[in-house]
Amino acid sequence: MTIKDLLEAKLSYLLKEHPELPYGHLFTAARYSVFSEAKRLRPLLLILTAESYDVPVEIALQPAAAIECIHTYSLIHDDLPCMDDDDFRRGKPSLHKVYEESHALLTGDYLLTFAFELIANSSGISDTKKVALIRTLSKRIGAHGMVGGQVTDLTFTKQTLNWDTLALIHHSKTAALITAALEGGAILGDAPTADLKLFEEIGMCIGLGFQLVDDLLDVGKEGEKISALSIIAEEKCREIALENLEKAHELLFSLSRPMPSLSDLFEKMIHRSL
Ligand code: IPE
Ligand code: IPE
Ligand code: MG
Ligand code: MG
Repeated sequence: MTIKDLLEAKLSYLLKEHPELPYGHLFTAARYSVFSEAKRLRPLLLILTAESYDVPVEIALQPAAAIECIHTYSLIHDDLPCMDDDDFRRGKPSLHKVYEESHALLTGDYLLTFAFELIANSSGISDTKKVALIRTLSKRIGAHGMVGGQVTDLTFTKQTLNWDTLALIHHSKTAALITAALEGGAILGDAPTADLKLFEEIGMCIGLGFQLVDDLLDVGKEGEKISALSIIAEEKCREIALENLEKAHELLFSLSRPMPSLSDLFEKMIHRSL
């Protein structure tokens, strides 16, 4: 079984259906969004990082599943009519196209909350590490991370956007959770403090590159939405994404352990068509 297969099995086990409950459709909706055409990059980043510090994959699987729940919540909310108003996600209709908008909103709330329950209940992880995981994740997805990034994204227009604001948006709405995945793996592996600091820089580089590629892949679909292409040409956008990939690779070499599997995943994150 590949790591991705193990992760799919873990997610399926954790996100059970509950047809016996009057709110059983909450679990059905969560499964609809989680089990679809998804790359699972963030959980893979966490697992591969942890593995580099000799953490068995079984230990990393539950925190990895938690990160995927958080990511899926962010996508469900991002697609809502009051946000990006996108009708398709992960190769099928967005959740609010299949269920009431209120139900999609609450499914996102459930996945976000469930993620922290999963971390608190992970086995084989010390309480100290669980608190560190919760601290990192909540910081990265909160006001000074993903949520703040989404607010900034909605605040600016193509006319008011400049490069510094765009970098702030991309770092916070996207790179922050990617950083948390790397930091999460490092926390599980008792990585030295110097490595944890480096992972912040690495996550910001690869996350910015990743979101720039997302903007390139969305060309023609953006409508009123802002993206890197609101202020720079496609060629420049690709160039900056590649520069950030190179910088991330270089920083990986400064860590206390070799990280060949992370290097490979970084390549796939930038050189992708989906
Ligand atoms: C999409 O993320 C949203 C962004 C932050 C760019 P992914 O491209 O990782 O989406 P999935 O998880 O594979 O669907
Ligand atoms: C998604 O950013 C960021 C989060 C969900 C936090 P975008 O809105 O640019 O990504 P897509 O294109 O909808 O996947
Ligand atoms: Mg958005
Ligand atoms: Mg969007």
